[in-house]
Amino acid sequence: MSKEKVRVGIIGCGVIGKQHLKAAREAEWVELAAVADANPEAARGAAEQFGAERMYKDASALLADSSIDAVVLAIPTNIRTEMALRALDAGKHVLLEKPLAIRSDEIQQLMAAKKELTVGFCSSRFRFLEHAEAARKWIAEGRLGAVRVLRCRVNEPATGRPEVAPPAWRVNTAINGGGIVANWGIYDFDYLLGLTGWNLQPEWITARMWGLADPIADYFPEGADSEVYGTAYIQCKNNVSITYERGEFMAAPRERSWQIIGSEGSISLHMTWPSQKTIVATTLNAETGIDSHTVWEGDEDSSWVDKGALFDFTRAILEGREPATALPQALQLQRIMDGLYASARAQKPVRIEEEGGERA
Ligand SMILES: NC(=O)c1ccc[n+]([C@@H]2O[C@H](COP(=O)([O-])OP(=O)(O)OC[C@H]3O[C@@H](n4cnc5c(N)ncnc54)[C@H](O)[C@@H]3O)[C@@H](O)[C@H]2O)c1
Repeated sequence: MSKEKVRVGIIGCGVIGKQHLKAAREAEWVELAAVADANPEAARGAAEQFGAERMYKDASALLADSSIDAVVLAIPTNIRTEMALRALDAGKHVLLEKPLAIRSDEIQQLMAAKKELTVGFCSSRFRFLEHAEAARKWIAEGRLGAVRVLRCRVNEPATGRPEVAPPAWRVNTAINGGGIVANWGIYDFDYLLGLTGWNLQPEWITARMWGLADPIADYFPEGADSEVYGTAYIQCKNNVSITYERGEFMAAPRERSWQIIGSEGSISLHMTWPSQKTIVATTLNAETGIDSHTVWEGDEDSSWVDKGALFDFTRAILEGREPATALPQALQLQRIMDGLYASARAQKPVRIEEEGGERA
């Protein structure tokens, strides 16, 4: 591998693959070596649009190309881990899209196969936004005191009959590992756990999930089984808890809120859009109650959501460091995901699996 540049191949040239292609073109330390897609039209179109050096009709041919240092896997979750294992076996660094996996065993398989290669995950997307770094620093400075509660409550209301049916991966648990909780929960948890320095240790989860309501059941194609609404209470070690709620197509108004509450302060966050935002923290004042502080204010460059993961991953390779979400963080996140679905299925609390521990 040349020391200044990473030669990247993109596998999967659909909606999100194109965002990685755009990012690869923008990063001067990246060479867009090749694209591959099971659909040759998609590969050809992407190669032409983004100026990839080579186009492969299938992923195996791309993985066999010894000029490629690293691959981005922008393909559905149910086939991604196996592809990542093949890429690692071929000696390539790997960036995986989200959801991270169907089950946490897959992350452990990747850990066993990683060796000296770099493995990153795109659930880190929203932590590349400017406000997130300011919030992370604020929290790292200890301004909240001891963290007590992490909250996420995001509900998106139904907005009328969709014009196009959602893609199969989005509504099918076997392909995607779940619905809205797998799709967006992985971002919410990466954001909240990442901003608090990855030191929370979730222990018990109680979750409930629901599918599309009867009057709008035909919004999803037949056979769709994914949830559109999920709630959870997660107990962590050291007397910390997480309260979680995520919904789409809701019979309720829009609500978007992420918050971290500590013994001596709190921070109210805003992970997504609008990009114009003010991040406010409070600190306890023994005389007057609470003081408010603006942690970050401005109109954020939201292109970091699309390019941040590829930029970070390729820089991590060149700098010999770990990416923002690497395998240890992915394992922690996927165990939460496993726990959420296990609890919702069993309709009872489940214990989150620990290193060497019993499965929930
Ligand atoms: N669409 C989004 O906004 C978005 C955002 C973030 C993450 N993701 C994740 O990325 C993944 C893909 O989503 P998408 O929206 O790009 O889907 P998509 O259907 O638009 O694209 C997927 C592409 O992968 C190709 N593909 C499938 N199997 C393949 C294989 N074995 N080898 C090579 N190519 C193969 C398909 O032909 C298709 O072109 C999903 O897991 C999704 O969760 C999507």
